[in-house]
Amino acid sequence: MAKVTIDGIETEVPDGTSILNAARQIGGDIVPPAMCYYSSLKESGGKCRVCLVKVAQMNTKDPRPMPKLVASCRTPVMDGMVVQNITSPEALEARKGIVEFLLLNHPLDCPVCDQAGECDLQNLAYEHGASTTRYEGERRTFEKIDIGDKIKLHMTRCILCYRCTYVANQLTDNRVHGVLNRGEASEISTYIEKAIDNDFSGNMIDVCPVGALTDKTFRFKSRVWFTNPLDAHRNCSKCCGKVVLWMKGNDVLRVSARKDQYGEVKEFICNECRYDHKATADWTIEGPRHIDRGSVIAQNHYELTDLKNLKQEVERQLVFQKGKPLPEKLQTDNG
Ligand code: SF4
Ligand code: FES
Repeated sequence: MAKVTIDGIETEVPDGTSILNAARQIGGDIVPPAMCYYSSLKESGGKCRVCLVKVAQMNTKDPRPMPKLVASCRTPVMDGMVVQNITSPEALEARKGIVEFLLLNHPLDCPVCDQAGECDLQNLAYEHGASTTRYEGERRTFEKIDIGDKIKLHMTRCILCYRCTYVANQLTDNRVHGVLNRGEASEISTYIEKAIDNDFSGNMIDVCPVGALTDKTFRFKSRVWFTNPLDAHRNCSKCCGKVVLWMKGNDVLRVSARKDQYGEVKEFICNECRYDHKATADWTIEGPRHIDRGSVIAQNHYELTDLKNLKQEVERQLVFQKGKPLPEKLQTDNG
């Protein structure tokens, strides 16, 4: 075990834990943002640099600071390490620079982008970005391409975090997708736009931190904050079957995997659950999805903590799901 102090808070973690994960163990504002690291994808991280922190003391035996800021997702803790994130003006200034750098080629098309409202880059720019840009060059432009029949790739929005390539590599058994070329010419491609028809390819949409990979079955149907997210599940022989249904009225507009507080998918879902079950009768509804109050999706979405109200709300929403029993938890509390 190693003792590490992050922004003045001490914690103890197993040897080999990254600074980012040690910070996540503490939680709260001191957790660095992450645009490319993804706990469930091996070898992810080290690409975007938004998680830079200052190591003010390397370890107990060598109390010198590290000479440069380090990527917290890729740097393991050492016993006695002292780290500064939000208490380091240097790290915050560098993060601001990184956001500016990520936005060099990213179009400011949030008003027409399906990811708006759940875009990590939008949140990052809001929290850490500069209010103006110094960039005068032309942005890269690409044609939009189809990755299979259900995914649209807008390469102009891609920040080359590589998460989708790790999904393609680690979750699907037939990889036909990756990053081609180098530097400014780098682009995500399916090698002559081959369709990805593997059962888990849809997870690329969920791991993409920006609007570069979007679900064609949901595109332009609704702004996400006008939808009503519900936790639901079904028996699925391929995946866990636990999803979020993004509803508008009685229609299921989109099915996605459930994410944790860091925006990472808890359990990957298969394409059948994602695309082929857009009827509420296919699902057992568990109740409203918890939405962070700071998120724009929380607009008009009041979570009901009182179980009687929750029962009424679920009943109202299940009126079209005739014959289906209410979730067990609600039946128990009915009395
Ligand atoms: S398409 Fe999305 S997930 Fe893939 S590298 Fe680009 S930003 Fe990352
Ligand atoms: S999250 Fe650490 S470099 Fe991207």
